[in-house]
Amino acid sequence: MNKWYSYIPILQKISYIFVSDNLIKLSVMKNKWMSISLFAAIIMGCTAKQTSDDKRIEERIDSLLSKMTLEEKIGQMNQLNSNGNVADYKELIKAGKIGSFLNEINPSTINEMQRIAMEESRLKIPILFARDVIHGYKTIFPIPLGQAATWNPTIIEEGARVAAVEATEVGIRWTFAPMIDVTRDPRWGRIAESLGEDTYLASVLGAAMVKGFQGSSLSDPSSMAACMKHYAGYGAVEGGRDYNTTVIPESILREVYLPPFKAAVDAGVATAMSSFNEINGVPSTGNDFLLRKVLRDEWGFKGFVVSDWGSVAEMVVHGFCANGKEAAMKAVNAGLDMEMVSSLFIQHLDSLVKEGKVSEKAIDNAVRNILRIKFKLGLFDNPYVQIPEKSKAYSETHLAAARQAAVQSVVLLKNKNSVLPLTDKVKSVAIIGPLADAPHDQMGTWVLDGDKNYTQTPLKAINEIYGNKVKILYEKTLDYSRDVNTANFGRAVAIARQADVVLLFMGEESILSGEARCRADISLPGAQTALIQELKKAGKPIVLIIMAGRPLTIEKEVELADAVMYAWHPGTMGGPAIADLIFGKEVPSGKLPVTFPKMVGQIPIYYNHKNTGRPAREPLDLIGNIPPGAKQFTLGHTSYYLDAGASALFPFGFGLSYTTFEYSNLQLSSDKMKKDGSITVSCTITNTGKYEADEIVQLYIRDLVGSITRPVKELKGFQRIHLAPSESKIVSFTLNASDLAFWNNENKLVIEPGDFDVWIGKNSQEGLKGSFKLIE
Ligand code: NOJ
Repeated sequence: MNKWYSYIPILQKISYIFVSDNLIKLSVMKNKWMSISLFAAIIMGCTAKQTSDDKRIEERIDSLLSKMTLEEKIGQMNQLNSNGNVADYKELIKAGKIGSFLNEINPSTINEMQRIAMEESRLKIPILFARDVIHGYKTIFPIPLGQAATWNPTIIEEGARVAAVEATEVGIRWTFAPMIDVTRDPRWGRIAESLGEDTYLASVLGAAMVKGFQGSSLSDPSSMAACMKHYAGYGAVEGGRDYNTTVIPESILREVYLPPFKAAVDAGVATAMSSFNEINGVPSTGNDFLLRKVLRDEWGFKGFVVSDWGSVAEMVVHGFCANGKEAAMKAVNAGLDMEMVSSLFIQHLDSLVKEGKVSEKAIDNAVRNILRIKFKLGLFDNPYVQIPEKSKAYSETHLAAARQAAVQSVVLLKNKNSVLPLTDKVKSVAIIGPLADAPHDQMGTWVLDGDKNYTQTPLKAINEIYGNKVKILYEKTLDYSRDVNTANFGRAVAIARQADVVLLFMGEESILSGEARCRADISLPGAQTALIQELKKAGKPIVLIIMAGRPLTIEKEVELADAVMYAWHPGTMGGPAIADLIFGKEVPSGKLPVTFPKMVGQIPIYYNHKNTGRPAREPLDLIGNIPPGAKQFTLGHTSYYLDAGASALFPFGFGLSYTTFEYSNLQLSSDKMKKDGSITVSCTITNTGKYEADEIVQLYIRDLVGSITRPVKELKGFQRIHLAPSESKIVSFTLNASDLAFWNNENKLVIEPGDFDVWIGKNSQEGLKGSFKLIE
């Protein structure tokens, strides 16, 4: 299923030659064969260079390992959380007992700690400094779920690059991102950090993020080692409760949850983090199947694996290990390389090796993996951070990138009577709601370093950019999203009456999503729904802009509002992005990376479910229509809820535009595909509206009959295209037989001949349909 990102290593090598060595200019090439030969020569040269670099690194590791004591080796496997006080760690660093710190962000402290390691420790092994740089360091981009709504790998790569440039300025060379847990549960607070519910989308976007963080070479001082997390299955926690149990059959694990990690490995990710959850009774941190069999033996991962915070120790709490010593043993024996904060390795590995319960070879392997990444980062040769005279944090280009990411992340869910974009006829707007001017909350979860003083809120942006076009009335009304004080409702209605349009900013505060922020009720908190109901009395069009870390159950609010834009938590530049969308300088193009339920009780609800033996059949008998005293066999007997029906509020892939797109002329290059072949599926997209705009065109398939049942739809490709009014483009996708493969119950990847449906469409529920046969 890998497509463009399988070429990343090659492109990296090419850019290395072109950029670093500046050896050859393709323009001198006279003909295509010369170009091809040169291209081949370059690739061979690059591969040779990389192999020799890698060889040199392995030799340096061997030489270092041969000098290391067991204690020094175990030290490399130890990661501590810095309290900022060098004196507290000086002796440990000198003794080689700390391989990595997390959460030290003072560059002078980093340099001093590094100086001790490089000058006062016996073997002069540099320390690796880490931090959660999740969706920006200083310049904050939309939360990852919002970034996923862009369906734009380039935007995502740029966002990660900006984060890396800013974070490496202070000496952070390792980030704990991307988070590529596929999740189908919006109650889970960490859905905000994810790239949504779809395996393919998360694979493509996660790989792009890795590339952005790591740049063209890890040794570039502006590159950060990425960390794919949380390996694995964490997105499937029971009931959406964080840290909880997962039960995932191996075929589903391999088909749904593991491919984004495989794509990250193929994109060259340097590190991985084991997840907190257990899978089928075995915590990931001590899971030999995940850490050794799949990651190392099958995928050939050459980086290192760190535990999550204290997750080695938590194996005792899980009831998987009797004590800390056993936890250390099981973790290392399963293939975990570095322990985050719980220090059980330091306490117990020495005796475990002496007792023969952990082999020194296992320790050597772990240390080898860690040292490899330190060498690749260039830390041995260039251990110190050069503090720049002028920081690039919040630079114009970084803010512009964050603004464009926010623009593309917003999803237009409703636009009755084309109330958006606001036209010149609108002379005044009433800006209302707790998130219109909430500089901290609009940055979203996992923001450790972003400064809210740099946040541009919608209120500020509308004032600054459009204040000369419209009169602005403002009434926050509710202080924060959970506020239940209705005292200011009267004032809000009064300004709504004076204005032509109401711009209502609601949602969730940032603290309500993210790690350990799960909600059983995912409706708009506080008195926000009551406020919309009250504002209806003013009789003015209501544009509802929602900022949130997850899909919320907003059926009622969508009904009440005239237009709805879902802005997630859009980051530092969310304000100007939203303002430009409201006033039509930009056109919405985001599409949902996750299904929106009408009610919590529908969860799990996701587009690529199985069909069942009794799929819901319209018309549905709904609770309001059942006559009193109805007899046992009078209802539908298909799979749906009496109160919620069968469909989502908004399906995966959904998003409107100010313009309209018509899909026509679906073409398949053949109605047969060989088991090792491919076909091209194409269609024409025409911009039939008035606005120049982007459309995200989506390719889905369905395997009609399988040796195990297959989902009703599977995303297999997407393209973001740009069309002027009346312009048409033919969009083509290559569908390879390998894209049709799936994991059967014997855990084998199989491609089974048979009939397939294929769609090109604007979301997972609409599209032009064709069919083909896969033949032997
Ligand atoms: C716990 C979280 O699960 C993980 O995502 C994060 O990277 C670590 N803590 C470090 O802060």
